Amino acid sequence: MPRVTLSRYLIEQTRSHNTPADLRFLIEVVARACKEISHTVSKGALGGVLGSTETENVQGEVQKKLDVMSNEILLEANEWGGHLAAMASEEMDSAYQIPGRYPKGAYLLVFDPLDGSSNIDVNVSVGTIFSVLRCPSQHFSQNDSLGEAAFLQPGSRQVAAGYAIYGPQTMLMLTLGDGVKGFTLDRELGSFVLTHDAIRVPETTHEFAINMSNQRHWQAPVQRYVGELLAGTEGALGKNYNMRWIASMVADVHRILTRGGIFMYPRDSREPAKPGKLRLMYEANPMAFIIEQAGGAATNGEQRILDIVPQSLHQRVAVFLGSKEEVERVTQYHQTA
Ligand code: AHG
Ligand code: MN
Ligand code: MN
Ligand code: MN
Repeated sequence: MPRVTLSRYLIEQTRSHNTPADLRFLIEVVARACKEISHTVSKGALGGVLGSTETENVQGEVQKKLDVMSNEILLEANEWGGHLAAMASEEMDSAYQIPGRYPKGAYLLVFDPLDGSSNIDVNVSVGTIFSVLRCPSQHFSQNDSLGEAAFLQPGSRQVAAGYAIYGPQTMLMLTLGDGVKGFTLDRELGSFVLTHDAIRVPETTHEFAINMSNQRHWQAPVQRYVGELLAGTEGALGKNYNMRWIASMVADVHRILTRGGIFMYPRDSREPAKPGKLRLMYEANPMAFIIEQAGGAATNGEQRILDIVPQSLHQRVAVFLGSKEEVERVTQYHQTA
């Protein structure tokens, strides 16, 4: 069997599914940036990349050095190619404008440059999450700057989404809306090679992921559901469940894509104004697109994540995603509460 690199996969997608050449270029550029982030992350203490900066991002989080470095790598890689109208990131207050010396293109790139950054200093998997939207023509201008409004599209309009995971292996998981493909970085070749062709999330599972330390702040439907999971064979669900929580969404989602499970970050009664911790545009939408494309489900408890129309760039959302049977159960508990 010939090795199928990411480049070859994308060219074949252009032939079979008319994937536009500028979208193909965009994905290749993002993948190249992820290779550079992978390399930077892997230097650890030797490269002086661990630890925090003095700054806070718009989310009110202290930025790690690698949050800032990864953000810059993605901006620099993507600003010159002529494929983007603008970019937005967890680490920037507002939309990033393509410098005037470069042409603008048809797409919007949205990313969480480094996900799981609390895990950097303890050498646990982190990642990069990205989402690609088309820039609506009424918002596009070659000369004027692009406002937030261009980005505020439901996740169902994503044309591509993916994440890179920097773990024991560096992998890139990608969807163009036609299933999910997994590529492993071959460090000798310097290329991502297709290694996971037909990714499916098993519909049933006996594994869940949630930060249990927040239990006292959850609302009734989540209390009920997690209570049943914990009750095991003695409870209403009649089976025992195992728990995992890595605190890197990429790593938790990657496990779910590999062997099933349900991931939950519910809203928290401490912050009624903030429905959950995770960000709709940088985290929930791309992951929901990937999970649905692999046969799983993703809701905020009440509705499909991909149907939510964002009101602002940094909007937060409750997240329940993974194996269909469990996501449907916890969603139903919300709907009947
Ligand atoms: P980020 O590092 O991009 O800010 O995201 C962290 C997120 C997500 O990756 C993870 O699932 C969650 O925060 C962990 O939250 P807790 O620390 O509350 O467990
Ligand atoms: Mn963060
Ligand atoms: Mn994140
Ligand atoms: Mn992040």
